[in-house]
Amino acid sequence: MDTSTLIDPDKVEAFAMRTIADVTAAYTGVMVSLGHKLGLYRALHGAGPLSAREVAGRAGCAERYVREWLNSQAAGGYLGYHAASDTYELSPEHALVLADEESAAFIPPAWNVPAAMWADEPKALEAFRTGRGVAWGDHDARLACGVAAFYRNGYRASLVPQWLPALDGVMARLEAGISVADVGCGHGHTTVMMAEAFPNSRFHGIDTHAASVEAAGRNASAAGVAGRTSFSVARAVDLPDQGYGLVCFFDTLHDLGDPVAAARRAAEVLAPGGTVMLVEPFAHDHLEDNLSPVGQLYYAGSAVMCCAHAISEGGRMVLGAQAGPKRLAEVFRKAGFSHFRSVATSPFNQVFEVRR
Ligand SMILES: C[S@@+](CC[C@H](N)C(=O)[O-])C[C@H]1O[C@@H](n2cnc3c(N)ncnc32)[C@H](O)[C@@H]1O
Repeated sequence: MDTSTLIDPDKVEAFAMRTIADVTAAYTGVMVSLGHKLGLYRALHGAGPLSAREVAGRAGCAERYVREWLNSQAAGGYLGYHAASDTYELSPEHALVLADEESAAFIPPAWNVPAAMWADEPKALEAFRTGRGVAWGDHDARLACGVAAFYRNGYRASLVPQWLPALDGVMARLEAGISVADVGCGHGHTTVMMAEAFPNSRFHGIDTHAASVEAAGRNASAAGVAGRTSFSVARAVDLPDQGYGLVCFFDTLHDLGDPVAAARRAAEVLAPGGTVMLVEPFAHDHLEDNLSPVGQLYYAGSAVMCCAHAISEGGRMVLGAQAGPKRLAEVFRKAGFSHFRSVATSPFNQVFEVRR
């Protein structure tokens, strides 16, 4: 069959341009990482229009390289360019995304994740061909660091101000003093945030990745909450029994090889009236409803990280990062919980209250 008569050249061109935009975005990621690590965004932040020489001088970098970087950033709309004065400017809005490390919209660390995905491509090729898993800790170190740093500011904006208050009665119990578990705590940012907000409670983070557990301990010390936090290398199914008033899973349940067993363990170690807070990537129940940029990002990460890790743990149930509320509720129903309620959503997360 002659397909040339069936092919719409306009559609080919439009799609090719879209994929080129994706390639351009990947190039831009390298520029963003350089701008962050070299202090180029910091040099521009709040400074008004600056020449390439001035930016280079402020950041202590070589002007010729910096000029090309600036041009790339201006071409991408990240920076404004004033042709009359040959100067570059970072707007206050873009500074929140690129320069302000405390802003909930701060993005540069996110680029560590695709960097790790590229570095680990040989592992992904092998995993796809053999069906074997890749453990979280066997990835390039930029994965754990990138995920922790990227999610930290979003958690800061949502966890204590929005998500915990959305859980029935949990704020009062945290204020009075309870034990809290953070399962798959990673670098412990969530553990530390809760410990900072609720001095009468005690917080225990567990994770199977030893380097993350060490980082969590350092973060707790740096925040001055080491006295009411503890961290240990342990599997979710071995969560030590401390009669928790709250057990949290932040972006972790779908990574586990046996999420039902982990939920069952949470049920065993909950104090009477205790709550599980489940935070998962935002997703609808059906694939056709997840066909969005957020779904695109999560399914890709899921293919090489989340499913790969769950398979490395035996893969009894490989949820993937787009499980959706129905499948998540089913995990907890199988583990003996009777109450499962959605309490909050954001473009990237969904939060559930779960009780026995
Ligand atoms: C996507 S990361 C999320 C980390 C952190 N909670 C956050 O939101 O930034 C998933 C974490 O689960 C941990 N993990 C994977 N399998 C685990 C298991 N069986 N038990 C406990 N933690 C596990 C990983 O080491 C990793 O730190």
